[in-house]
Amino acid sequence: MIDQIPPVVPPGRLRELAHPVYDLPGGLLLRPWEASDAPALVAACLDPDVQHWTYPGLLSTAEAEARIAGWRTRRQDEEAAMWAIAPADGGLPVGLIGVRELDLPGGSGEFLYWLLPAGRGSGVMTPAVDRISRWAFEELGLHRLRIIHSVANTASCRTAEKAGFPLEGTMRGALLHADGWHDEHLHARLRTD
Ligand SMILES: CC(C)(COP(=O)(O)OP(=O)(O)OC[C@H]1O[C@@H](n2cnc3c(N)ncnc32)[C@H](O)[C@@H]1OP(=O)(O)O)[C@@H](O)C(=O)NCCC(=O)NCCS
Repeated sequence: MIDQIPPVVPPGRLRELAHPVYDLPGGLLLRPWEASDAPALVAACLDPDVQHWTYPGLLSTAEAEARIAGWRTRRQDEEAAMWAIAPADGGLPVGLIGVRELDLPGGSGEFLYWLLPAGRGSGVMTPAVDRISRWAFEELGLHRLRIIHSVANTASCRTAEKAGFPLEGTMRGALLHADGWHDEHLHARLRTD
């Protein structure tokens, strides 16, 4: 029976799409990560908030370059799509946003995002989440996107709410952070919202 349900997004769809560049407020844009952006990724790993909430590990410059190359491979393999949030006039990224855990047949994915301290406080992540959500629904064809964050991460909770991801519930003891198990909020937005 289940194989009578067609995939929400046919295989190959993400691979066929160009990696778009989008303008953001504040002279920033969303663009693909480049190998030369590795120092920004190294800096993110050293930021206590990024490390606490998204645990990217500690990366050398060579390891950061390899991770950026890995994101390109994961896009080709239709597992994830990552963007840098970077100054439009050039320079290193101040943040990352992407959709991972891509399930194209099931039509869903999960956001990952962070800003370096220099990028925080301007509210730019809200339009970034909205822009990538519209890409994921309108260009890629997903049905549902989710944001999962620790209940203690108020900034992420507000970002999700303001980007059109209402809170659906609390998942108890759902993710292990450096200081132990955290209850996690589940937020989601549907293509039909
Ligand atoms: C989550 C993150 C992207 C939000 O971006 P930001 O620029 O810091 O947040 P904004 O300035 O847009 O503020 C968003 C809201 O959170 C609130 N907020 C921001 N930092 C806060 C903090 N440390 N504690 C409580 N509230 C905070 C703001 O007051 C604002 O609330 P409002 O809409 O009611 O006015 C950023 O803080 C970050 O990268 N944090 C570290 C990594 C991370 O947590 N990633 C998400 C993992 S799920």
